[in-house]
Parts: sequence; structure tokens; C-alpha cells
Amino acid sequence: MIKFPEQGMASGELLRQMGDLERQDADWKGGKTWALVYYAEDELYRLAKEAYGMFFSENALNPMAFPSLKKFENEVIAMTADLFRGGPEAAGNMTSGGTESILLAVKASRDWAREKRPEAKEPEMILPITAHPAFEKAGHYFGVKPIHIPVGPDFRAEVDQVRRAVNKNTVLIAGSAVCYPYGVIDPITEMAAIAKENGICFHTDACLGGFMLPFLKKLGYPIRDFDLSVPGVTSISADVHKYGYGPKGSSTIIYKNSELRKHQFYIYADWPGGIYASPTMLGTRPGGAIASAWAVLKHLGENGYLRLAEEAMKVSRTLMDGIAAIPALRVMGKPEMPVFAFDSDTVNIFELGEVMGGKGWFLDRQQLPPALHLIVTPNHSRIAEPFLQDLRQATAELAKKGKSDASGMAAIYGMIGTLPDRNAARRIVVDFLDDLFKEK
Ligand SMILES: Cc1ncc(COP(=O)(O)O)c(C=O)c1O
Repeated sequence: MIKFPEQGMASGELLRQMGDLERQDADWKGGKTWALVYYAEDELYRLAKEAYGMFFSENALNPMAFPSLKKFENEVIAMTADLFRGGPEAAGNMTSGGTESILLAVKASRDWAREKRPEAKEPEMILPITAHPAFEKAGHYFGVKPIHIPVGPDFRAEVDQVRRAVNKNTVLIAGSAVCYPYGVIDPITEMAAIAKENGICFHTDACLGGFMLPFLKKLGYPIRDFDLSVPGVTSISADVHKYGYGPKGSSTIIYKNSELRKHQFYIYADWPGGIYASPTMLGTRPGGAIASAWAVLKHLGENGYLRLAEEAMKVSRTLMDGIAAIPALRVMGKPEMPVFAFDSDTVNIFELGEVMGGKGWFLDRQQLPPALHLIVTPNHSRIAEPFLQDLRQATAELAKKGKSDASGMAAIYGMIGTLPDRNAARRIVVDFLDDLFKEK
């Protein structure tokens, strides 16, 4: 058992130990990870780190003390609102990530409905099954019941089902641009129109696509509308720490107007410690993330994002074509940006994930149905070919064996994914997490 250190350790020795540990982590800079890290290029990376370091200690809980942070946050929101055609009324905040942005959107919609739709006594929100679990988490925390809508063969939400699911308790409809599992945009225009007709809120989750889709559209890709200019869209979330290439802990939540945003704020006026006013979920808000996000957006500008969007699309095309050319594998649906999944009828896809893992590639596993998932960034350009080579070889080896029962982790993924009792699946994962967060 680790004990609280009695004596402090010299910084040099500590940093050496940390460096040793870091070298054992997934090699994201070498392009080996296909999720979790969005890395574009070294100059940008160094700027982001330096800007973070400069504002490392500042706290955006009370921006009156730090006008610099107030400026950075307001400008990040203004620039992003402009990107999403929000108009002069748009109002938002920076948050610690996509999950916090979505939690706030759900909370604000619920509280808005308490005032404007008192008949919604048991609040519900309508979500495509592909919506990010952050909505489920929000529903769990804030008592808003998720109503799940199926997606069609193109993996986009079925609009008719959305219409049918609306009732007096509905406070929010949400759609993704793009959804994480398949990289496609839900029919936001049609879904938001239903929200508008019924006088309820609509949230576009552009956490993943927000800093990619507007640039792809400018480059001439056929991107359907998803932003604040779509009638009925009342809020949108977009993560600077994904395709914005900003530091971890930077996201945005933007509402159509400040009247909606007011339902996001939390105020406690009766505390002896003073009037407590908190704009988002967190108390202390790290100044570093806000300052660094501002620096990254200003440094890249539209021309920088256009260049990076084109690069990511190019390498994603190479990867999708390379995967589609492997007879046993199939790219799922028609991804609209450099995020996609692939599956197989003839090899065990989780076993393929394990074999690729053995070769140092870190791929996310999906379920319902089983698939492997890739988030592609410009950094993957130089490793696309070695990756495809490993994938071809691994698939050919497994194809010889056929789609047999897998063993090890592949079997565990398969088992959890297919357990008919989802509560049992949840219990297995709770125990797994409990074990994971223990010092051993
Ligand atoms: C579409 C979408 N929404 C929300 C999130 C949640 O973002 P975060 O992990 O920053 O909380 C993600 C994360 O991948 C996402 O892809």
C-alpha cells in the first residue's frame, strides 16, 4: 500500500520517474491512438502548452479578478458563435469538456421548461440511440428521462419516430453533428423543426464535429445544416479539445440567446461566504484551458482549420478505401467527416482489435453491432500505410481461422456486448472500474 510521502522528493527525480511512465503510455504522437488525443502539429502543440502554462494558476470562477480570462472566454464564445451563425443574440460559456457542455444543455432545457412548460411534470428528452452517453448521464443526474429513437440504415435518427415520441413531458430533443459511433449528421433541420412546432428546446451536439464540419462545408463537402441558424436549434456544444486541437478541458456551450443561457447558471445567495455565482458545473475553472483554447483558435484561424480539415479528410479517405479493399472488412455507413467504424461478417472484430493492439495500435471497440472505431487526425498521414499493412496482415491471419469464438479480452468485449441482461453488463463494468481505480 502506498503511504502519504513523509519526505518530499526533488523535482528532477520526480520528472525523471514521470518521463519513464509516460514512455509506457500509448504513442499518440506517433499516431498509434485512434481516439482520445487530437494532435495536429508541433508548433500548435507548443503554443497551446505555453499559453496553458501562462494561466496555469488563474481561476475563471470569478473573472472579475482576471479580466484576461473574461476576455479569452467571451472571445472564444463569440468566435465559435460566429462559426455557428449564432447572430448577435447568441450567448454561451466555456466548459471543461463535451460532457459538461451537454450536462448544462440538458439542465438549462429542464429549467427553462419548468418556467415555460409547467405541464412537463416528468421531464423527458428525445435522443437517437447514437447520441453520446453524456445525455444519459445528464438524464440520470437531473431527472430527465431519455426516450430513445432508432436510427435508419444510414445510422441517422428516424424523424418520424422523433415526431411520435413528443408529448407534454418532452423538454428537449437532441441530435448529433456528428455522432461518435458512425461519423454522420442526424437530420437536424427536420428534428429541430419538430422541437420548434412543439415549443421545446433542441440541442445540436457538435462536440465532435463542431470544429470540422463548418470548414468541410467551406471546402465544398456536402455538409447538411446543423448549427444555430437552423430554425428550432436552441443550443449547440462544440469541443475545442477535439478537432479544435485545443488543450484537454476546453469545450463550448452556446445558446440561441441569453434568456436561455440564464437557466444554465447556478446562484446561491444565502451563503455566509458570499453570494455564490457559478456559470457552469464546476466551481474553480482552470484558466489555463481557457487561455490556451483562445490562443489555438487565434493562431489557426479559418485558413489553419481549412488546411487541417483537408488533411484529415485526405488521410481518412485513404484509410477508408484501404479498409474497404480488405475483403473481410466493411466501413459502416457513409461517414461525413474523418470519424468512422468498420465491422466484419467473417472475422471476429474484437479479436482483430486484440491483434492490432498487440502491434501497438489503440482502437476503440463498439457494440450493437461489434465494430472497431477510428478518429482520424492530420497526424495520422504518416502512419496510414503501416496501419493498413498491419490491418491487412492481421485480417488475413484471422480470416484463415474463420469467425470462431474469441478468447481473452476479445471474448469479454463480445460477452458484455451480447448479454441480454444489460443490468448484469453494468454490474460487470462497475466492478471493472472499481478495480481499475485502486492502487496496486
Ligand atoms: C459526439 C460527442 N459528444 C460528446 C462527447 C463527450 O465529450 P467529452 O469526452 O469531452 O466529455 C463526445 C466524446 O467523444 C462525442 O464524440
